[in-house]
Amino acid sequence: MSKGDTQFALVLHPLLSRREVKAAKLRAVRKKRESFVRLGRYAMGPDDLWQQSLVFLSSTTPAQCCQAIFLLAAGGVLAVAVMPRDARTLLVNYGARKAQTSPADAPAKNVSDRGRLLSLIDMITSWTQVPHSWFGAFYVVSLACSVFWLAQYLGDGAVLRFIASRQAAAQQPSATSGQVVLGWLMMFLQGARRVFEHLTIIKPSKSTMWVVHWLLGLLFYLSISVSVWVEGSDDAQSLMKMGVAVPTFLFAWVNQYRCHKHLAGLKKYSLPEGGMFDHYICPHYTCECLLYLSMAIATAPRGVWCNRTLMCALIFVAVNLGVTASGTRKWYAEKFGIGPVANRWNMIPLVF
Ligand SMILES: NC(=O)c1ccc[n+]([C@@H]2O[C@H](COP(=O)([O-])OP(=O)(O)OC[C@H]3O[C@@H](n4cnc5c(N)ncnc54)[C@H](OP(=O)(O)O)[C@@H]3O)[C@@H](O)[C@H]2O)c1
Repeated sequence: MSKGDTQFALVLHPLLSRREVKAAKLRAVRKKRESFVRLGRYAMGPDDLWQQSLVFLSSTTPAQCCQAIFLLAAGGVLAVAVMPRDARTLLVNYGARKAQTSPADAPAKNVSDRGRLLSLIDMITSWTQVPHSWFGAFYVVSLACSVFWLAQYLGDGAVLRFIASRQAAAQQPSATSGQVVLGWLMMFLQGARRVFEHLTIIKPSKSTMWVVHWLLGLLFYLSISVSVWVEGSDDAQSLMKMGVAVPTFLFAWVNQYRCHKHLAGLKKYSLPEGGMFDHYICPHYTCECLLYLSMAIATAPRGVWCNRTLMCALIFVAVNLGVTASGTRKWYAEKFGIGPVANRWNMIPLVF
C-alpha cells in the first residue's frame, strides 16, 4: 500500500490507497447492480429466498460479519444460561466453580432420575473436557493475530487489503491512522500481558472446562483482532475519544493484572479479599469489560462515541462473563456463606 497517499484515502480507509478505495467502491456498485438484475430475474422463482440470502451475504461487510459472530455467540450463551439448572451446570460451569458444584446443583447421576437429553449432555460434556489452563492459547492466538495484522500492514499483505477494501466499499466512515494504531496497540498490549501472566503467575491446576468454551474463546480472539481496525472514523473528535479511552484502558489493564496476581496467590479455593475484590465478586471481569469499552471508544466512527463492532464484542464479553460471575457468587455464597459476598457487585457497579 502506498503510504504517500492523499487525504481522500485516509478519510475512506487509512489502510488503502485512493485507487484501491475507488476500485472497491466500483466493484461494490457493480455487484449490487448484478444482484438486483439476478433478483429481478428470479423474483418469482422457487429459489427466491436462496438468491436473496446470497445477495445479503455478498453485501455483508467484514465489520458486520464480526458483529454477527459476537451477537450470535452472546445469544448462544444467554440461551444456555436460561436452560434448566442441571443442563446449565453441565454446560456453563468451568474452573473452580465446576470443582465446587454443590450436591444440589450437581445433576443426578442415575439415568432413570433424569431425562435422556440431560444424560446425553452429561456424556458429551464429560468426554470433551479440556484443562482450564488452555485459556493461555487464547492470548497466544491473540498476540499472533496482532503480529500477523502488523506484518500485513507493513508488507502490503493481500489478506488485509481484501478485508479493508470490502469494508471501504460499504462507504461508511473509516478510522484515522491514529485510531487504527491505538486499537491495534491496545489489543497487542492485552494479549502480551495475558501471555506474560500465563508464563509467570498463573499456577498449574487440575480444573477443566467444556471444549466449546475454548472454541468460543478462540473465535472471539480471532474476530476481535480484526474488529479493532476494521471500523473507525475520520473524526475531528478522535483525539478527545483517545483521551477518554487510553486512561480507561490503562486502569483496567493494570488492575486486571493485580486481580490475576491476587487470585494466583490464593490457596485453592478460598474467598478473594482486598482491593477491588472487596467491592466485586469478579473484578477481573469488570476490568475485561472496561478494556473492550475503552477500545470501542478509542476507535469510534465520526458522530458516535463507540465503535459498533467492538460494542458487539463488549455485549458478548458482558453476557459471557456475567453468566460466569453470577455462578461464582453462588459458589462463594454456598462455600463461605452469604455474609462475606452480600455487599459486593458481581461485575458492574450499581447494575449487576
Ligand atoms: N473475553 C472473554 O470473553 C473472556 C472469557 C472468559 C475469560 N476472560 C478473561 O480471562 C481471565 C480469566 O478468566 P477465568 O474465567 O478463567 O477466571 P477465573 O475462573 O476466576 O480463574 C482465574 C484463575 O484464578 C484461579 N481462581 C479463581 N478463583 C479462585 C479462588 N477463589 N481461589 C483460588 N484460585 C482461584 C483459577 O484457578 P483454576 O484454574 O484452578 O480454576 C484460575 O487460575 C479474566 O480476566 C477474564 O476477564 C475473558
